[in-house]
Amino acid sequence: MRPQRQYMDSYINAVQEYIAEDRSVSWHPEILRTRFHEYLRVLRQAETDPLAGMAPATHYWLTIAGEYIGDLDLRHHLNASLRRYGGHIGYKIRPSMRRRGYGKLLCKLGIVEARKRGIGDILITCDDDNIGSYRIIEANGGILYDRVDNGRPVLTRRYWIYAED
Ligand SMILES: CC(C)(COP(=O)(O)OP(=O)(O)OC[C@H]1O[C@@H](n2cnc3c(N)ncnc32)[C@H](O)[C@@H]1OP(=O)(O)O)[C@@H](O)C(=O)NCCC(=O)NCCS
Repeated sequence: MRPQRQYMDSYINAVQEYIAEDRSVSWHPEILRTRFHEYLRVLRQAETDPLAGMAPATHYWLTIAGEYIGDLDLRHHLNASLRRYGGHIGYKIRPSMRRRGYGKLLCKLGIVEARKRGIGDILITCDDDNIGSYRIIEANGGILYDRVDNGRPVLTRRYWIYAED
């Protein structure tokens, strides 16, 4: 589902979990609490009128039993940097909900949305040492294409999920 106001508290709790694991977040809890409507507006804008250099993207939340579980970005097309790092789909699961199969589920739902948008071959990338992520991609039909050096400490794996004929 698309982000919704009714899950704000659950989402803010998850953002606190992301901060606790040292993940960088662009919207901090105190800002979200007072300007959630603006956060939603910025996400909508990213779909049709992205910032310079960014591909248009739709942001989805996985929610279960009234709780935010994780989120996924679906980029509508690839630009040069997404082709090397980022791909069509990026996702994360809140730390307290990991290792329960939600990552696989979220990726699967993202692939369904990509197909609805007419995206044929889907590129998904992950760090070479991100075991959870590459297991998710492989479980969803990803075929390892290569590993590229993006000037980071680890190589980036690039997987394609090919369109069915
Ligand atoms: C990567 C991430 C999305 C995995 O989410 P998750 O909900 O734990 O994934 P799942 O429960 O669906 O697990 C998928 C598989 O990976 C394995 N796995 C997950 N995390 C793992 C870890 N840290 N170490 C080893 N295996 C792991 C699971 O056991 C499962 O294995 P299986 O194929 O034998 O069933 C989550 O750890 C996360 O959000 N990480 C931070 C953001 C990130 O790395 N996003 C991906 C960017 S490409």
